[in-house]
Amino acid sequence: MSDLRVAVLGVGVMGADHVARLTTKISGARVAVVNDFVTEKAEQIAAGIDGCRAITDPLDAIADPDVDAVVLATPGPTHEKQLLACLEHGKPVLCEKPLTTDVATSLEVVKREAELGRRLIQVGFMRRFDHEYARLKALLDSGELGRALVLHCAHRNPAVPPYFDSAMIVRDSLVHEVDVTRFLFDEEITSIQIVKPAASPGAPEGLADPQIAIMRTASGRHVDVELFVTTGVAYEVRTEVVAEKGSAMIGLDVGLVRTRGDGTRGGQITPGFRERFGQAYDTEFQRWVDAVHRGSATGDFTDGPSAWDGYAAAAVCEAGVESLDSGLPVEVAMVDRATIAGA
Ligand SMILES: NC(=O)c1ccc[n+]([C@@H]2O[C@H](COP(=O)([O-])OP(=O)(O)OC[C@H]3O[C@@H](n4cnc5c(N)ncnc54)[C@H](O)[C@@H]3O)[C@@H](O)[C@H]2O)c1
Repeated sequence: MSDLRVAVLGVGVMGADHVARLTTKISGARVAVVNDFVTEKAEQIAAGIDGCRAITDPLDAIADPDVDAVVLATPGPTHEKQLLACLEHGKPVLCEKPLTTDVATSLEVVKREAELGRRLIQVGFMRRFDHEYARLKALLDSGELGRALVLHCAHRNPAVPPYFDSAMIVRDSLVHEVDVTRFLFDEEITSIQIVKPAASPGAPEGLADPQIAIMRTASGRHVDVELFVTTGVAYEVRTEVVAEKGSAMIGLDVGLVRTRGDGTRGGQITPGFRERFGQAYDTEFQRWVDAVHRGSATGDFTDGPSAWDGYAAAAVCEAGVESLDSGLPVEVAMVDRATIAGA
């Protein structure tokens, strides 16, 4: 089977990583085209890869006859137009989260894909591909712990860029726990409340950090998430499920070297997202490439989070931002999936 010719749009932090990943680690694909708003950046990256071209217009890159599939690593506000172009040209696309930046356009994308009768859009919620999350999901599905009742999560970053505001803690950070909740529990989130404790003295002026998110699922399960994005320490993502017959926790020992000789134990917490989730991105991309190769036969060019998952996450985050302002629990407004044939 010939290599999938991939166009990567947006070669900033994530896109440049994905180009390197596709070039050095993933089999069955190569980067044929790169595009970036900053043309020189794309040209520089293309020059380092055999058979790769820089194309200035993102829509031309998607339409190019020598492009089989697309990776979107552009900023969220550009996704809607680029996703619709991928659908129009029938090109499979792995879109970094978010699907789009608002609920209405996310729903429109879901509907447009459903009309095609082929699954072309995968959203980059990569935690589903992390070995620890996959094992936790398998454990829950095995029934060994009985019914899962409660999810406790912590999401801590050492620092965030200066433009990061309080709503981005919901839309860019919490969004991952939103997807994790839906993945682990296989049901929708129906309400969300954001609680704002006293801000950390280390947080920039005006940033509500930390935040506590409290969510409830359709069957009444409870989820709480501590979000703290300016810890100054390390990148810690912990997830604990409390179930009827026991509990299970992941994210505690990643990269941890236990030392007990002097009566203490300790080690290093993963310093950044690459150390914590590098494997998850690699697995996500390999499985996506494999799914696209199978797609012509199956009609499904994805293996993972769908456009619907992107829409659901947008709906929960929208309600979360409303609660961030009011402090009150907010019901999540979503359409009934059954009303969209093929979604
Ligand atoms: N899955 C994850 O864990 C994760 C982590 C970080 C970011 N992201 C997502 O990845 C995407 C990119 O984030 P990033 O951190 O790499 O951002 P970034 O700012 O580092 O990179 C974005 C790049 O896109 C380029 N760009 C801007 N507008 C464009 C357009 N219209 N067409 C083509 N290129 C354009 C910019 O010049 C820049 O090089 C965002 O959607 C973000 O939410 C996902």
